[in-house]
Amino acid sequence: MSKRILTGIQPSGILHIGNYFGAMRSAIELQNQNPGNTFLFIADLHSLTVNPEPADLRMRVQRLALDFLACGLDPEKTAFFRQSDINGVCELTWILNTITNLGLLERAHSYKDKIAKGFVPNNGLFSYPVLMAADILIYQSDLVPVGKDQKQHLEITRDLAIRFNQVYKKDVFKIPEPIISESVAVVPGTDGQKMSKSYNNTIELFGEEKAIRKKIMSIPTDSTPMEAPKDPDKCNIFALYKLFSTQEQIDALAAKYRAGNFGYGHAKQALFEAYMEFFAPMRKRREELLKDPGYIEDVLKKGAERANAVAAVTMDKVRRTVGLK
Ligand code: ADP
Ligand code: TRP
Repeated sequence: MSKRILTGIQPSGILHIGNYFGAMRSAIELQNQNPGNTFLFIADLHSLTVNPEPADLRMRVQRLALDFLACGLDPEKTAFFRQSDINGVCELTWILNTITNLGLLERAHSYKDKIAKGFVPNNGLFSYPVLMAADILIYQSDLVPVGKDQKQHLEITRDLAIRFNQVYKKDVFKIPEPIISESVAVVPGTDGQKMSKSYNNTIELFGEEKAIRKKIMSIPTDSTPMEAPKDPDKCNIFALYKLFSTQEQIDALAAKYRAGNFGYGHAKQALFEAYMEFFAPMRKRREELLKDPGYIEDVLKKGAERANAVAAVTMDKVRRTVGLK
């Protein structure tokens, strides 16, 4: 049996190219590692911990699904579903809560960070890692690829799985292994800091062509005159251009920077063209998907059926083990 790979993504906003290169692309590529045994879900229950507007949450879930499918997620290879469509996730969260020491959750960085930022925590935010453990353990996942920021949540998941198995003296849960992507390059924003929706420096993944052009054309640059040679490695436009280009194209643009008589306006135009060319097939696919609004719902429903079948087996075991059945 091939190893089951699972990961979840929060529907936290309009996707930008930092999300694409930093997270989405590798999440989609997982489907080719273990076709048929990869699970990817939209963590809508986790999003509730920050009390979003209902219409906004619904829209973000739809858009996330659309954008992933447009970027090449193949729902035949990867079961793609909404977290909240899985029976048993909330029940398992409760059961795991009953074996979770408060201290374990009090030490969670994500919780401590939110409090430090002035958030008034609700109980959902506090037990966020328990819900995440339920997400992972319910599918008996072997491997869980996540970013560095989720490392501690995976440790908590492993702790809870081990503790449950010990308390009930039975190997109910598989102990999952994290795959931490330490090496993902940080995509810079239009201002040179890390691209992030919190810094208002993003280039949208599926923005309107005109808006993208405007965003790229307004990237701040220094005042080196047009004629002067420039160092590509000190230029943010060049750093972004690299994401979309082959080594040959990168070398060619670097040579133009160094030769002089090549202004930042020219570099921005090259970046805009590279962006449009890179995303053209995905934009086309997205347009097609938009013409068939039932498709996304259908994909998520089928994905949920596959995931529910696996979850049901675990939950039956769990209920018997704890004495509910
Ligand atoms: P944001 O910083 O815009 O709020 P999120 O925290 O929602 O983005 O990130 C979602 C995913 O995208 C995470 O896995 C994160 O590591 C990745 N990501 C976000 N911004 C970048 C970036 N600038 N470079 C690389 N990866 C990024
Ligand atoms: N907490 C994760 C994040 O913010 C999302 C997530 C929820 C997740 N459940 C998961 C990731 C289970 C991996 C496995 O990125």
